Amino acid sequence: MNRGIVVSSVTVRFGGVTALSDVSLNVQPRDIVGVIGPNGSGKSTLFNAVSGLVRPASGEIRIDGQDAVGVPPETLVRQGLARTFQTPRVDPVLPVEAAILCGFQTKARQSLLGAMLHLPGQRREEAQMRASCRAIMERLGLIEVADVPLGELPMGQVRLVDVARAMASEPRYLLLDEPAAGLSLLEQRRLAAAIRLLAADGVGVLLVEHNFGLVGELCRHVTVLDRGKVLLEGDVATVRSNPVFLQTYLGSHAA
Ligand SMILES: Nc1ncnc2c1ncn2[C@@H]1O[C@H](COP(=O)(O)OP(=O)(O)O)[C@@H](O)[C@H]1O
Ligand SMILES: [Mg+2]
Repeated sequence: MNRGIVVSSVTVRFGGVTALSDVSLNVQPRDIVGVIGPNGSGKSTLFNAVSGLVRPASGEIRIDGQDAVGVPPETLVRQGLARTFQTPRVDPVLPVEAAILCGFQTKARQSLLGAMLHLPGQRREEAQMRASCRAIMERLGLIEVADVPLGELPMGQVRLVDVARAMASEPRYLLLDEPAAGLSLLEQRRLAAAIRLLAADGVGVLLVEHNFGLVGELCRHVTVLDRGKVLLEGDVATVRSNPVFLQTYLGSHAA
């Protein structure tokens, strides 16, 4: 079987707008692959295509060898694909811990009947979920705000909660859409460490960022998008020193 997320020559159009044009990408288990590009370059569209929210006009997307085009997003989630959103959609009254616990539900195997009857297996599973939830909150520095409603958190921390929720589903692949936006340096450090641990555990991570910061630190391979097209790709050091990159990207978007 061909492992990984393999995106081949994907094009996405919205009416007359070509948001992605002939984009290819490969994320293997344990990899942290980066995509950077200015606003409007197609980063979120790429995520939406991989996670089943938009259907490409052409090209192929395979996840662990299986065709992912046309597969409903919730099926992809059950198959081990988790993602965050550039602008997380949250219930403002939901406390942090409860929001993260929601992430576990995608993998909860016990039946509704088991839950209603409070069977021992169900209670064990719930205790395990709560312990894993605490561990994720500790890793991301969210313990102090465990009981705080999401509506009272700054956007940086809301983003971290979204990352935590995605991690809670114990995905095989994790797509992170600009997770570092609005984070303090300390929060970025924690996020970087948590992403590294996940990758070391075998998770394949696709990390999208507006600028080089976290991508430069974490990724082996980076793809630079510009107006929906791959402008450059390669290992981080090579891309960073490429004159085309320096001119067309850093020239107008200092990282
Ligand atoms: N649902 C949509 N309908 C119409 N146009 C869209 C939609 N989503 C994205 N676009 C357009 O596609 C292009 C790429 O957007 P996006 O993927 O959000 O870029 P990025 O995440 O890099 O900022 C932009 O021109 C944007 O306006
Ligand atoms: Mg975006």
